[in-house]
Formats: sequence, C-alpha cells, structure tokens
Amino acid sequence: MKTLIFNGSPRKKGDTMEMINTLKEELGGEIRVVNAYHDGIRPCIDCRWCFKNKGCAIKDGMQEIFSYIEECDHIVMASPIYFGEISGMLLAVLSRLQTYFSARYLRKEEPVPKKKTGGILLAAGSFGPREKAESTARMLLEQLSCESAATVYVDGTDKKPVKERGDVLEEIRMLARTLKKD
Ligand SMILES: Cc1cc2nc3c(=O)[nH]c(=O)nc-3n(C[C@H](O)[C@H](O)[C@H](O)COP(=O)(O)O)c2cc1C
Repeated sequence: MKTLIFNGSPRKKGDTMEMINTLKEELGGEIRVVNAYHDGIRPCIDCRWCFKNKGCAIKDGMQEIFSYIEECDHIVMASPIYFGEISGMLLAVLSRLQTYFSARYLRKEEPVPKKKTGGILLAAGSFGPREKAESTARMLLEQLSCESAATVYVDGTDKKPVKERGDVLEEIRMLARTLKKD
C-alpha cells in the first residue's frame, strides 16, 4: 500500500504535521510526503509544453512525484488554512498538476489510470471558513483519480493545538483505517 501526502505547512512541528504523523502511524505501508515549503519544487510557469507532451518540462523533484502519483493507492492533501484556502506554497506545488488537466482536456488522454482513495486534512487557527480550501483540495484529488476523499478539519488551533485534541486525532486514525480497507 502506497500513500502520497502533500503537506502545505511550513511548521515542522505544527498542527498539519501532527495530523500527518497521526495518519502515518495508523496507516503504515509506504508513505511519501511532499513538503511544499522544504522540497524545492518549482511552480508551473505555463510554458505549455504539456499541451502536447506527457509529464512536465521542469526537471526537478516533481518528476519522481509524477511517477508516484501513477502508482500509489492513496493521496492526501494536508494544509493549514491560510485566508480561507490551502496554503499558497501548496497551491504553487499543486500548480504542477496542470499536466493532468492538459492530458484530459487537450491531449485527450486518461491522466491517471489507476483509481485511488483520497483524504483531506485541514487545520485552522480560528473558526473557518473551510469550504474554499476543501473544494480546492477535492477538485485536485478528483483530477488525480481519487474516487472519494473524506475530510478531517480542525479549527481553533490558535487556542488549542491539534496535539491536545484527542477527538481530532481519533478522527484521523479512523480515516487511516478506512484508507487501509480500500
Ligand atoms: C498567512 C496565514 C493565514 C492564515 N489564515 C487563516 C484563516 O484564514 N483562517 C483561520 O482560521 N486561520 C488562519 N491562519 C491560522 C492557521 O491556519 C493555523 O495557525 C494553523 O493551525 C497552522 O497550521 P500549521 O501549524 O500546520 O502550520 C492563518 C495563518 C497564517 C500564517
């Protein structure tokens, strides 16, 4: 079982990371985490190479991630909520998924043949709203052939961090158990 997790937080011991670590512990299998702030993956520059070619013209760490996307069983989007959205750095990394839109709509190819299960982990310091962040994550997971994606959302982290929220951590373990069954 292979899982790919996109992490949109800059904080290595923050709320999103706590959520990711809890998921990883319960899920097991092979897990690969893409850290939007630390992995040096460049954003899409709209060069339009992918209008005609499979993959991406930018040769960086994302190339390996494209391969992993094709073979993995689960994909999880994890992010702090910034201004109601997933973090800008995560959006920048995810802009590289444009190649899959080009596959579907321009090259008329099936972008990611292998079907997967998705997951969404969101942490907000205050009290939402979460809809924009969730719908962005969901739309991208759909492009990556995730047939479903449950969300675990935690708010109020400014007052009580995720690590003190047993209910949220249990929800994440449940999500992991559901993923394991698929
Ligand atoms: C630039 C920035 C924008 C933020 N925008 C929001 C917001 O719109 N709504 C909210 O509830 N919290 C917002 N927060 C708070 C974070 O979502 C919150 O602290 C979160 O738990 C951080 O997660 P992390 O520790 O994984 O990075 C913002 C924080 C930053 C730094």
